[in-house]
Amino acid sequence: MDNDIGELAQAARDASGSEAVLKALLRAARETADPAQIVGFLSELAPAAYKSEDARLRVADFLIEFGAAADALDWAAGDTPKALVLRARATLVDGDRAAAARHYRAALASDASVRDAALDAEFAVAQAHGGGAEIFDLGGRRIETPRPAATPAPGDRERVTFADVGGHEDVKAQIRRRIVHPFARPALFQRFRKKAGGGVLMFGPPGCGKTLLARATAGECAARFVPIHIPEILDMYIGQSEKRLAAAFEQARRSRPTVLFIDEIEALAARRKYSSENAQSTLVSTFLSEMDGISASNEGVLVLAATNVPWAIDPAFRRPGRFDRVVFVPPPDEAARRAILRLHLADRPRAGDVDIEAIAARTSGFSGADIAGLVDAAVELAIEDSMRDDTIAPLTAAHFRSTLTAMRPSTLEWLSSARNYAKYANQGGLYDEVAAFLDKHAR
Ligand SMILES: Nc1ncnc2c1ncn2[C@@H]1O[C@H](COP(=O)(O)OP(=O)(O)O)[C@@H](O)[C@H]1O
Ligand SMILES: [Mg+2]
Repeated sequence: MDNDIGELAQAARDASGSEAVLKALLRAARETADPAQIVGFLSELAPAAYKSEDARLRVADFLIEFGAAADALDWAAGDTPKALVLRARATLVDGDRAAAARHYRAALASDASVRDAALDAEFAVAQAHGGGAEIFDLGGRRIETPRPAATPAPGDRERVTFADVGGHEDVKAQIRRRIVHPFARPALFQRFRKKAGGGVLMFGPPGCGKTLLARATAGECAARFVPIHIPEILDMYIGQSEKRLAAAFEQARRSRPTVLFIDEIEALAARRKYSSENAQSTLVSTFLSEMDGISASNEGVLVLAATNVPWAIDPAFRRPGRFDRVVFVPPPDEAARRAILRLHLADRPRAGDVDIEAIAARTSGFSGADIAGLVDAAVELAIEDSMRDDTIAPLTAAHFRSTLTAMRPSTLEWLSSARNYAKYANQGGLYDEVAAFLDKHAR
């Protein structure tokens, strides 16, 4: 079966431009267990060789479904309404909402019949205030107004997206492939017999964007974000914690589509030797049965959790259907630090001598939160200067020089603990990604 696909791929390369062969390859691709391999084959073909737009767009559609948005753009060239719809979908997968809105608007302007349900839903979200299910009028201009950074009112769909998270390109790609796509297209994943259920556990050093990524994942799925902070759920009265927890799950189910986010899950999922008493065991079983219920039946609720101490998590939580997918959120590398700096410096008055590249180079080991703190400290200095001189004194390189001397990277301690776990207690490869990260960044 997979041999057939290899042969078809070879044939498609040899008979470049043959639509019959391309069609056969795509048909086989729909049945294969390894769509990633097909994405690879397709990227070796030349879109321009195929005369029929229909054939090209079919490839684009396939590529978008499997997250290869950049490749899909090559196959969806041209300005016909159908091509524009596919480009809108591809740019959306890529995280560029504004461009996606532009393409979609252009497509609808020339042919209103090319409406795409997913894009309608996506852009309806931009004005879902007040619960109106009206489809957004794409002739309006509100689509492109910047998203407010403020936390949306409960009931609103999440607006923070991956565009608000600096760097972490690998993590974003993983989340797109493993979470956003299955979430957006349950039927497709069912056809490939690929499970979308179960939760995703993010781990990594504090301050590196787990909470931010969880929120942005909800935004990418155009879902509501329901965070649960376990320490706040814990209550000294018997049965109260369970009630609160069950209520949170109930709220998540009622407001589907929802990303339910459990922060500091170690407070709940601690291994026996870490937890104080058995007192929490009914809470744990309440949690696990809610979780099992969700992965068994409730499409449209995605459970994400985060922890800084993955080694304290009871392995029972990682059984299939529970948190069977684990994502490492590493400290930002240099490129990511540049991106984070840019995000945090946007809209702030700044002099030409502030050198983002140089600051990024000097902040190895800093978490995203450290960088946010660094910018905050520099901003305080600039405000002091402004008050003293009664002007707007912009942020300068000098402000950053003096704040940088006072700051220490906060992720190193975590990384050295993680190094030990990767070496001596690598539970079924749980820390492989950590080990790879440490190898890459070993000094
Ligand atoms: N990749 C990032 N891009 C932009 N800001 C970041 C990033 N990582 C961290 N931050 C900043 O640090 C703060 C804390 O991050 P958070 O997501 O709460 O970290 P964690 O949950 O991993 O402890 C965020 O609110 C944000 O201001
Ligand atoms: Mg957090």
